[in-house]
Amino acid sequence: MAVHRQHGRLLALVFTMAGLVLLLVVPTAMAYPGGTPDFQTDVAPYCAACHSSTAEEDLAGLGERAKSELATNKHFAQIRAGAGKYGELSVEDRARLIGLLSAVDRNSTITLEYPPQVAPGETFQVTVKVTGGAGPSVGVGLVDRSHRFFARPASALGWEVVGAPTIIGAKGPQSEWISRRPEREGRNITFVNVDGVSSSAEEDRWSRAKIIFTLKAPDSIGDLPLVGVYFYGTETSTRLSTRMHPDYGAQPLGGTLGKSGRVKFSERAVISIREPEVQQPVAEIAP
Ligand code: HEC
Repeated sequence: MAVHRQHGRLLALVFTMAGLVLLLVVPTAMAYPGGTPDFQTDVAPYCAACHSSTAEEDLAGLGERAKSELATNKHFAQIRAGAGKYGELSVEDRARLIGLLSAVDRNSTITLEYPPQVAPGETFQVTVKVTGGAGPSVGVGLVDRSHRFFARPASALGWEVVGAPTIIGAKGPQSEWISRRPEREGRNITFVNVDGVSSSAEEDRWSRAKIIFTLKAPDSIGDLPLVGVYFYGTETSTRLSTRMHPDYGAQPLGGTLGKSGRVKFSERAVISIREPEVQQPVAEIAP
């Protein structure tokens, strides 16, 4: 018994070590610079713990934590201080890098196009347009509110996704990412990755993508919010903060555990769910 247990512990230790080594050696096979190649499902933005925010309101009610999550404090402060790999850059280059990465943030936008009013149970389209993002991919989702820690997938409010979202990247429609979710599981999810994204902060060149979600409104009358969430990286948009890995390609200088990712929200849409008004025929007034 005791020997068995010892053996078990030893094995567990060996596996833990192996796991750690794997994590350290092949980070990109499973991790997030590069997006989420393996997770084809709804996402809530709390998952992006390493990412930074660009607006304090996105962490409303969280006091000091909200400030510490801002890119300027969480990401740029590390660059300014020359922490970790950022120490490889001169003070001037670090200042230049912060300027370039700020340009990525300014040019990375997310907007929603939606009908202001739909009928109960009606099927309609919502188009999410994004710009920027360093690449090689960006993530886009529909949620119920613009809050890093409290947002839920939009489906939690009763917005039902109908069919696979249409993902339109720089070179037109793409389905490779969404096809990794087996058809029998239903591809009607609220989150997608767009591949083939490539922005350059040096050249002031910004990628564009568009995702069309078909949604079905709930059956009950009311006003429901809908918000787009945007996950993007910043550092691989400039050579200053890009390091080539022989197997995994362009990697952010700050590394897999770095704070160079972002979470950004669209404006909050409110869609009114109402029975369409029946047009009353205008009575003719006799002269
Ligand atoms: C361990 C830290 C970490 C966590 C946790 C994390 N990310 Fe990231 N993510 C990063 C980093 C670092 C980058 C930025 C790469 C860059 O700056 O170019 C990034 C970038 C991205 C990108 C853009 C791809 C790219 O390479 O620029 C997407 C999409 C993304 N993350 C989605 C997610 C989602 C969804 C989650 C939660 C499931 C998540 N991330 C959790 C670290 C993380």
